[in-house]
Amino acid sequence: MRRRHSVARRGFGDRLTQPLQPTRTKTARLKGGVRQQSGVIEYRQARLSDAQAIGLLHARSFRENVRGEFTDAFLDADLPAELLQLWQGRLDRPPENQFVQVALDDANLLGFVCAYGAHDSQWGSLIDNLHVVHSARKTGVGSSLMKQAGAWITSRYSDMAVYLLVLESNSVARRFYERLGARNAETSTMETHGGAVVRSCRYTWPRPQRMSAA
Ligand SMILES: CC(C)(COP(=O)(O)OP(=O)(O)OC[C@H]1O[C@@H](n2cnc3c(N)ncnc32)[C@H](O)[C@@H]1OP(=O)(O)O)[C@@H](O)C(=O)NCCC(=O)NCCS
Repeated sequence: MRRRHSVARRGFGDRLTQPLQPTRTKTARLKGGVRQQSGVIEYRQARLSDAQAIGLLHARSFRENVRGEFTDAFLDADLPAELLQLWQGRLDRPPENQFVQVALDDANLLGFVCAYGAHDSQWGSLIDNLHVVHSARKTGVGSSLMKQAGAWITSRYSDMAVYLLVLESNSVARRFYERLGARNAETSTMETHGGAVVRSCRYTWPRPQRMSAA
């Protein structure tokens, strides 16, 4: 079955009524390129003022990680502007089922995750985006963001499964999700951004509790 992914805006809803409190977590010292003055990473829900940094990281990560799979025309077009618009829309009036969590070192964005509760009647809640800046990888930021997304989904959609789509060729992310307890439910060919046809895996957790417990 072919399925089109779009970076078009999702429907909007009310602001979240019970935002999670920011948390600060000690972490291993980061490799070069990321300033880390305080020695702790702050995790909190994203604000509208984070849209630009999130859009830029999203665009950069896309260009680094899907080159060769997505078309050059799509990747070399004005992706930062398109994604800035997407994130401004998402964060300006977030739907009730949207969760966007950021990891920060001082004012520097290290990573973000975006989830949608009860997104699909068959597959459940969706992890739609997860990106960590290159210089902060392998320090636990990605798994912390996933566990926080899992905890948020558990608090609202505990009786549903969780899923995400990842390129079959993205072996780093696939191993990362498998370490967090996900299993590949199916691999399929689909049309995606810019008309590219890609092989994509659907990773699933039977319940969100499994994500935060991993
Ligand atoms: C996939 C991604 C989000 C993982 O983020 P991350 O912050 O590196 O994740 P973590 O640091 O929590 O874990 C990554 C690995 O580092 C290891 N690690 C974590 N802390 C570590 C430390 N202090 N020392 C050594 N290794 C460590 C983890 O065990 C894990 O190993 P694994 O890949 O064998 O499972 C990141 O690689 C990324 O942004 N990739 C590009 C975007 C992308 O592909 N996103 C997913 C699209 S579906």
